Amino acid sequence: MAIAVYPGSFDPVTMGHVDVIRRAASIFDTVRVCVMRNPDKTYTFSEAERMAFLKESTRELDNVIVDAHDGLLMDYAVANGAKVVIKGLRTIADFEYEMQMDYFNKRLAPGVETLYLMADNKYSVLSASAIRQLMAFDGELAGLVPPAVLEAVADRHKREEQNQ
Ligand code: PNS
Repeated sequence: MAIAVYPGSFDPVTMGHVDVIRRAASIFDTVRVCVMRNPDKTYTFSEAERMAFLKESTRELDNVIVDAHDGLLMDYAVANGAKVVIKGLRTIADFEYEMQMDYFNKRLAPGVETLYLMADNKYSVLSASAIRQLMAFDGELAGLVPPAVLEAVADRHKREEQNQ
């Protein structure tokens, strides 16, 4: 039984993330999508919201489990019997960051391999941080994030308008 972990902040999940999850789910028996904490970031959406968006966006994928872990990625992978971690790569900037992460992750768990899936061309510059900027200034998000995120963002705007 081949288990892979796909970790990330998912603040919020984008169509680029969903594409990587779909592709990983077609390769592995089980993909555990794990909402994690990047200590360098503060989050716009709560962990519960980020998990709910992921669950809704992967509902049709039977072999995908959405989970959360506040700790080291490699501790989570080992505890869940995963020998593979999946990461998406968009640009050379991702490569540099992932090269560093790989060094530390290998030190922590030499038996776990990280596999990199190249982002689909149409998502190669899509990032959660760009989504957050668009959100802040009411920019169009259709096609960039799954419907669950679109609905949550629309709800937020409505509540903000009512509170003004
Ligand atoms: O979506 P992100 O923010 O690029 O994801 C980064 C994430 C959450 C995968 C990374 O920060 C992470 O692995 N956090 C858990 C702590 C950890 O194990 N760090 C790696 C060793 S330095």
